[in-house]
Amino acid sequence: MNFQFTEEQLMIQKAARDFAQTELLPGVVERDDQQKFPAEQIKKLGELGFMGMMVDPKYGGAGMDTVSYVLAMEEISKVDASASVCMSVNNSLVCWGLEKFGSEEQKQQYLVPLASGQAIGAFLLSEPEAGSDATSQRTTAEDMGDYYLLNGVKNWITNGNSASYYLVIAQTHADKGHKGINAFIVEKAWDGVTVGAKENKMGIRGSDTHTIMFQDVKVPKANRIGEDGFGFSFAMKVLSGGRIGIASQALGIASGALELATKYSKERKAFGKEIMHHQAIAFKLADMATDVEAARLLCLKAAWLKDQHENYDVASATAKLFASQIAQTVTNEAVQIHGGYGYVKEFHVERLMRDAKITQIYEGTSEVQKIVISRNLLK
Ligand code: CAA
Repeated sequence: MNFQFTEEQLMIQKAARDFAQTELLPGVVERDDQQKFPAEQIKKLGELGFMGMMVDPKYGGAGMDTVSYVLAMEEISKVDASASVCMSVNNSLVCWGLEKFGSEEQKQQYLVPLASGQAIGAFLLSEPEAGSDATSQRTTAEDMGDYYLLNGVKNWITNGNSASYYLVIAQTHADKGHKGINAFIVEKAWDGVTVGAKENKMGIRGSDTHTIMFQDVKVPKANRIGEDGFGFSFAMKVLSGGRIGIASQALGIASGALELATKYSKERKAFGKEIMHHQAIAFKLADMATDVEAARLLCLKAAWLKDQHENYDVASATAKLFASQIAQTVTNEAVQIHGGYGYVKEFHVERLMRDAKITQIYEGTSEVQKIVISRNLLK
């Protein structure tokens, strides 16, 4: 077992850390406050190759491995989880899904701009009545011969307004249940596509989360991904990799909070000494560091399995379940260590605590991860 990162992986980690400090940190409090999407910063991330990290360079990507992606996601998430969720959805759900399962024409037309940072993508699975129960799709894609007619409503869509291209999951053959579901590439600019109001969220307030409506949208046959009926399997496979991204986001939120709490504990004095010299604080930091390291190892293991082309469904669910749990406790303790300062925006930890919660909800709730893990045990 080799725990050593390669030179290239370390270089990517450093580039992401530098970017987070110089480009994301300034203004992150204001963007959170004003619910402002980090458009400029995402554009720069795209120019640096962070929006299509694992995509083959022949399709405009950076050709890196999943381990590098975890390292970059952790660094970006330490500072700005609103930027990192945009990055995660674009990389793991949209670009990976298109590269792995799209046709050559779909890759040329859509993957190239998405992977090279010229366009942003979104993944549209959730509906008002289909969240964890993803097979209950109400959005329909009726086969009209030359095209599909798309009707329905999707909600909680990350990058809902900033994306140009959507991967939409919809029901074509209701009588076939999940085997009648398809996945389509839909352009936001097409007639019949409407972007609903932005959600006013507790955390990741800079990310743009919207409801998207489709009314008689004509989707060319060429925009279906894979064979007829492949859509649910597509969604599950894509989400399995997506969970590595969100697990790494949770890891980054936690490790960012740990770094801030450690720094504060070395500076802040109480009862005659820096607070880190009080065991009440030192022991908290030790527990937080242990949790963060365990989450990091789970994320890296899932990424490594993916890079080895091994099955990573359970590993990614385990990483997401654990990292999202420890993100709650670690950020909560970071606020506690900061005392009153932890409760105000300028010290960042209250934002990290609010951001942490979503990692237990999106790309499958913690309960969904437990379904994946326990079913494997019961096999
Ligand atoms: N790969 C391939 N196929 C898979 C699979 C996987 N990882 N997991 C399941 N499948 C297949 C099964 O084999 C089965 O197919 P067959 O009938 O042909 O064997 C089919 O999918 C149905 O599987 P299940 O019977 O296990 O389905 P279920 O209804 O019991 O649900 C579930 C399982 C794990 C709960 C699943 O529905 C699920 O993951 N739900 C959560 C959905 C989710 O993560 N939503 C997030 C939205 S996207 C998002 O949040 C992005 C964002 O904006 C940040």
